[in-house]
Amino acid sequence: MVQCVHSVQELRNILKPLKAAGKTVGLVPTMGALHQGHATLIATSAKENDITVVSVFVNPTQFGPTEDFDAYPRTLDSDLKVVKNAGGDIVFAPSPKEMYPSEDMTWVELTGNITKVLCGKTRPIHFRGVATVVSKLFNIVGPTNAYFGQKDAQQVEVLRRMVKDLFFDLNLRIVPIVREESGLARSSRNTYLSAEEKAAAVVLSQSLKKALEDFKAGDHNKASIIEKVTKIIQAQPLSDIEYVECYGLPGLSELKDEITAPSLLALAVRFGNTRLIDNIILE
Ligand code: PAF
Repeated sequence: MVQCVHSVQELRNILKPLKAAGKTVGLVPTMGALHQGHATLIATSAKENDITVVSVFVNPTQFGPTEDFDAYPRTLDSDLKVVKNAGGDIVFAPSPKEMYPSEDMTWVELTGNITKVLCGKTRPIHFRGVATVVSKLFNIVGPTNAYFGQKDAQQVEVLRRMVKDLFFDLNLRIVPIVREESGLARSSRNTYLSAEEKAAAVVLSQSLKKALEDFKAGDHNKASIIEKVTKIIQAQPLSDIEYVECYGLPGLSELKDEITAPSLLALAVRFGNTRLIDNIILE
């Protein structure tokens, strides 16, 4: 039976005696519209912890003024089923007022390139919103382990840095990208795609797979790898590239001409009005 709670106090009241009894707690932060990718995060947490808390909160502060906050799918009833089937125990589904009680507030913001490159270029406030809400969730739940998907690779790097800088006492557990049979990375935003756009979007994983093959075959030149990926995607007429870029790991360090392993090859591409991201680690 999955328990669904909406208030911070209620969640703390449930977790306090469990923690006092020595139970480990896994946290899976989500914005809902749960799919197989989330189910894998939840199942991993359920395997590794006594209690798994899944937060379902479409976080307003990580959406820019022209982004899809209002349109973002809200599907709590079916989310509860996904959580139950994947082995989760508690869903925390707060209102915006519960998470942001007042207009004056405290932000968690990272300086440096880590939030300015890749998605940060076109989404300048996004990672401040993510870091702030994830900090709140960490403080509310106090998890032993927190689970995030590698699909949001820049988010992963930002959160690694935040956990280190703010001395959060927890383990970040990063789960590999879950893909559809076609190779398309699972995403809540895939529901926006028409059948034609969805078929076309397969080019993203194909281009990344080819880049990894080329890298393994000895092409370590940044410009060459990026150009080849760009050409493969551009050959698909429904695609509109926002970026194809490569940065060093950890921390998204700037690379010169050579790609040093491990590096992150990441892309953002629009199909119609839908912006998709995907990535691969070159190592
Ligand atoms: O990855 C997401 O779904 C969101 O960015 C997160 C981590 C739940 C914060 O709102």
